[in-house]
Amino acid sequence: MTLDPKISQLRHMREQSRAGGGAERIQRQHDAGRNTARERLDILLDPNSFHEIDGFVMHRARDFGIDKQRFLGDGVITGWGTINGRLVYVYSQDFTVMGGSLSEVHAEKIIKIMEMAVKTGAPMIGLNDSGGARIQEGVISLGGYADIFLRNTLASGVIPQISVIMGPCAGGAVYSPALTDFIFMVKDTSYMFVTGPDVVKQVTHEEVSAEDLGGASVHASKSGVCHVVGENETQTLMLLRELLTYLPQNNMEDAPFHATQDDPLRADLELDTLIPDSPNKPYDMRDVIHRIVDDAVFYEIHAEFAQNIVVGFARLGGHTVGIVGNQPMVLAGVLDIHASEKAARFIRFCDCFNIPIVTFVDVPGYMPGTQQEHNGIITSGAKLLYAYCEATVPKLTVTTRKAYGGAYCVMSSKHIRGDLNLAWPTAEIAVMGPEGAVEIIYRRDLKESDSPAELKTQLAADYRQKLANPYIAAERGFVDDVIEPSETRARLINGLEVLQNKRDSNPPKKHGNIPL
Ligand code: HXC
Repeated sequence: MTLDPKISQLRHMREQSRAGGGAERIQRQHDAGRNTARERLDILLDPNSFHEIDGFVMHRARDFGIDKQRFLGDGVITGWGTINGRLVYVYSQDFTVMGGSLSEVHAEKIIKIMEMAVKTGAPMIGLNDSGGARIQEGVISLGGYADIFLRNTLASGVIPQISVIMGPCAGGAVYSPALTDFIFMVKDTSYMFVTGPDVVKQVTHEEVSAEDLGGASVHASKSGVCHVVGENETQTLMLLRELLTYLPQNNMEDAPFHATQDDPLRADLELDTLIPDSPNKPYDMRDVIHRIVDDAVFYEIHAEFAQNIVVGFARLGGHTVGIVGNQPMVLAGVLDIHASEKAARFIRFCDCFNIPIVTFVDVPGYMPGTQQEHNGIITSGAKLLYAYCEATVPKLTVTTRKAYGGAYCVMSSKHIRGDLNLAWPTAEIAVMGPEGAVEIIYRRDLKESDSPAELKTQLAADYRQKLANPYIAAERGFVDDVIEPSETRARLINGLEVLQNKRDSNPPKKHGNIPL
């Protein structure tokens, strides 16, 4: 039977649309260790779930010979599909078509899909592989980016927006991801920069490789632009699938429940002896987290950045929680600029999407010194304070050891609407640590003493006994209960159940003014 010519034409056009920039450019993409835009969608989405739209769109530009370079789809594939059976909207930029650069119609396609994601309340995922604004289209492509930035901003806090950087992304191709909730990068094959190495050399005479300027390791550990890094494209996309299991579809829903065999009453006795006797000895807060959460699974965000604080998702009794923990292993868990910003952004994400926040506190205070002061620790520290203060989701706090000074107030204390504040018997809650406190309040006695070192030790021991313990806070009700560490899992799960229907709100206003 011969095929109807109209069907035949449609099939031919579809094939053309699927061919992207052609075999040679696809080969170049593979040679660079990268998948094509369509191969990536196959990896990311559930099998046969992808529905493409706008595959026949073509650009309308005429200048610089671009009228002879017209490709069906114009360098971006858009549509929807499912991940673990749940609806997501996606765009995947095709580097084989003019470097995935963003034209007017390329932007229109992305915007159409973003608007559908917002209207139907499902996550928006962008697979980015683009040289930025299409140079031949000038201000028209800049306008396209600005239109996307506006949609990113309006969708913020309504649906989760996730970006994956899968090639050399420059200019506008990094600003749209920067407005989204999470940025994933692929080790060794993805880059993000406002301007590439060539422009950097022209403007600043600095010679730098793409990797050193904006590779995954730079953005994951130094700038903090990137939240999660995968070893290769497939693993990165699998990590994204896993992240979505913790998230609700939109801000009107709760995160999905995942049944677990892990007993809610399970007591981990190791926790009772986990805190070292010496207050200056570190331990790994991740160890505490693993021992408490369901099945010891903790999905860490920003694992390589500002490691003095740990943030990520886990489940307790099957329910998603956002976890924030000071990390005594790194800089004694002190709060500095990067740690404050990392945690503040994470807390705000959780609050947007109805995810309760569990905070583990062991913090000696804010980082002192000129480097931090001159770079604005006051403003950055205030961001964290603001984020905790404004959050209305259930807030549960466990003080494992130190909670000193301003950091006590900040780390989800009772005073800033902590709902359930628990402390271990090892907690030390005071204005400052014994050594520092004694030096200040007994300065004259120590100066006049014949044996100042001995006196200091004695005074510090006295201070610790009187002030650096959880009972003064508990006496005031600033701590709701002092618990045995091994009880923590059961107490937190019970707390989450009790707080399940919590309703709290902030005064009506246009928006607050977080110290940016
Ligand atoms: C049009 C582009 C393009 C662009 C790349 N191409 N970027 N076409 N507009 N912005 C095309 C190339 O001409 C080439 O076409 C193909 O894509 C592959 O590019 P190569 O340079 O061969 O690839 P590679 O060596 O891997 O380098 C990738 C790159 C580089 C680092 C992204 O292409 C680059 O620096 N591009 C320009 C980046 C940039 O400055 N963009 C504008 C930013 S301004 P052929 O036909 O040979 O395959 C911007 C403003 C937005 O975005 C507003 C922000 C607030």
